[in-house]
Amino acid sequence: MEVRDALSLGRQALSGKTEHFARDVALLLAHALGCTVEDVYLHPERVVTPQEYDAYLYFLKRRINKEPVAYILGYKEFMGKKFKVDKRVLIPRPETEILVETALKIMADMEIKDGIICDVCCGSGAVGLSLMGWGRFSCFFRYPKGAGEPSPSFVLTDISQEALEVARENARNLGLDCQDGLRFLHGDCLEPLRGAGLFNQVDLIVSNPPYIPSGEIEHLDDEIKNFEPILALDGGACGTRFINTLIEEAPDFLKSGGHLLIEIG
Ligand SMILES: C[S@@+](CC[C@H](N)C(=O)[O-])C[C@H]1O[C@@H](n2cnc3c(N)ncnc32)[C@H](O)[C@@H]1O
Repeated sequence: MEVRDALSLGRQALSGKTEHFARDVALLLAHALGCTVEDVYLHPERVVTPQEYDAYLYFLKRRINKEPVAYILGYKEFMGKKFKVDKRVLIPRPETEILVETALKIMADMEIKDGIICDVCCGSGAVGLSLMGWGRFSCFFRYPKGAGEPSPSFVLTDISQEALEVARENARNLGLDCQDGLRFLHGDCLEPLRGAGLFNQVDLIVSNPPYIPSGEIEHLDDEIKNFEPILALDGGACGTRFINTLIEEAPDFLKSGGHLLIEIG
């Protein structure tokens, strides 16, 4: 079988079952072949080996079963970087890049050279690690830190130990884990900041907390409610449980002039 035949078989299999089936098929075939999507389109004559074909069929079956493409591939691109994802963490959404871009602008406006930046409910670490990685271009600090050079500390927190494991792995993959300015803390909402004694010390708290009202979860698409962690979605009866806590308690930890930035829907 050649790539062109595999593409056509995949499109027939997924047509009507997923919204962006042609894109999904190209991504899954590229993953099975260990090449890029561009290679798939540029080399339709390439022969698909039996092992590659078996892997491709396995990926197609998972997708027909509504598993998100990002979990099948094992990563999601966010702010131009690949973040490892699996069922332990929410798949970072494109709209959350607005949260990161807004935070970067605030960091630049505040001229944050050192200080503390917290990503509460960090999941895969997509938000906090992007701020750490991209901040050095739009702000005034440097990573890796040179001797005596100021740079902020980043604190990433989550109630899920499993999510923190993924965030740590992403920090390693992005080359950010060797910095002494990165901490992962476990616990409920802002409690880890309390435990670490960070009263009146934080410049910026950023959070994309769970904000789906509990009663709406059963109406979400199968690919969300059957695969992504409910813990990452459920924001309590009105969806505002975490938003309220963050607004009420963040002032205990923010410096004068500090900012709280929340994604709320
Ligand atoms: C919507 S996800 C956001 C993940 C990541 N920040 C992102 O934008 O992709 C919410 C995260 O909040 C975490 N979480 C749920 N309940 C929590 C709690 N009580 N305290 C801290 N984190 C919590 C979940 O484990 C999940 O990782």
